[in-house]
Amino acid sequence: MQNSTTIGFIGAGNMAYALISGLVNKGFNVQNIKLSDTDATLLSLRADEFNLEVFTDNSELAVQCDVIVFAVKPQVLSIVCKGLQGRLSHNPLVISIAAGVRATDINRWLGGNAAVIRTMPNTPALLGKGATGMVANEAVSKEQKKLAEQILSAVSSCLWVEDEKMLDAVTALSGSGPAYFFLLIESMTKAGTALGLDEAVAEKLSIQTALGASMMANSSDDSAHELRVKVTSPNGTTQAAIESFQDQNFEMLVSHAMRAAFDRAREMGVEFGDD
Ligand SMILES: NC(=O)c1ccc[n+]([C@@H]2O[C@H](COP(=O)([O-])OP(=O)(O)OC[C@H]3O[C@@H](n4cnc5c(N)ncnc54)[C@H](OP(=O)(O)O)[C@@H]3O)[C@@H](O)[C@H]2O)c1
Repeated sequence: MQNSTTIGFIGAGNMAYALISGLVNKGFNVQNIKLSDTDATLLSLRADEFNLEVFTDNSELAVQCDVIVFAVKPQVLSIVCKGLQGRLSHNPLVISIAAGVRATDINRWLGGNAAVIRTMPNTPALLGKGATGMVANEAVSKEQKKLAEQILSAVSSCLWVEDEKMLDAVTALSGSGPAYFFLLIESMTKAGTALGLDEAVAEKLSIQTALGASMMANSSDDSAHELRVKVTSPNGTTQAAIESFQDQNFEMLVSHAMRAAFDRAREMGVEFGDD
């Protein structure tokens, strides 16, 4: 990415904070980052921390930027987009991180012909460890795709999908996924406590085990299945636990849960885009 590229964030909340921190940590020139929000107090905090230019008028920011990142809640995105109609004649790249809102609706609200990339990051982005699914509309150039990837990769691993409908599958997997792991950590902590461990010890062991297993899966050439088989000695303790999970159809449970998230993501796309 050229350090002269100007990036404007609309919405100064958690995700914008994570992305701006990520970009600054990677050496992006903060003079080329602009930020707008309706909350002047929050803006002033961000301005003090990053020394960047802030706006309470989204249009004023938008006309000055090569890339505009929508980092507002999904419910307010239509108002934000409609407020920019007629202010994007310089054809900036528009990146939305708002959950559920479809690129076609964003483009329509902006007045049409906008280069829109819709993304689905997840909460670990706040620690620079996110996973982001991305989809581009037809107006987006190869260079703009690369640019979007460079911005989101400041806080996450980025993966493209071809069909926007697949972003609902990404939502069901990595978007909501951190909560599935939190549930497993919670359940293992409770079960460890029930077996007699001190709760704090059980929690620490659960968290560290999740972290270690994830790092192993990430760094190993073996698949998760192969790693599991390797740590499951015949007739041992792990086998006893895995068989118990499988007797209760663990895979089916996960599959049903993700289908429910997928269906809800599709519903939300209709709900938020319906005006
Ligand atoms: N947090 C996550 O982990 C996560 C993960 C994936 C995707 N996302 C998506 O990222 C987006 C941002 O999430 P977030 O957690 O950063 O939200 P957030 O902390 O609530 O930040 C949104 C900011 O936008 C401001 N805002 C509201 N209306 C505005 C307007 N018309 N113009 C400019 N700014 C306005 C809000 O101000 P007020 O508070 O005063 O309304 C708030 O400061 C959401 O769409 C969410 O779906 C978040």
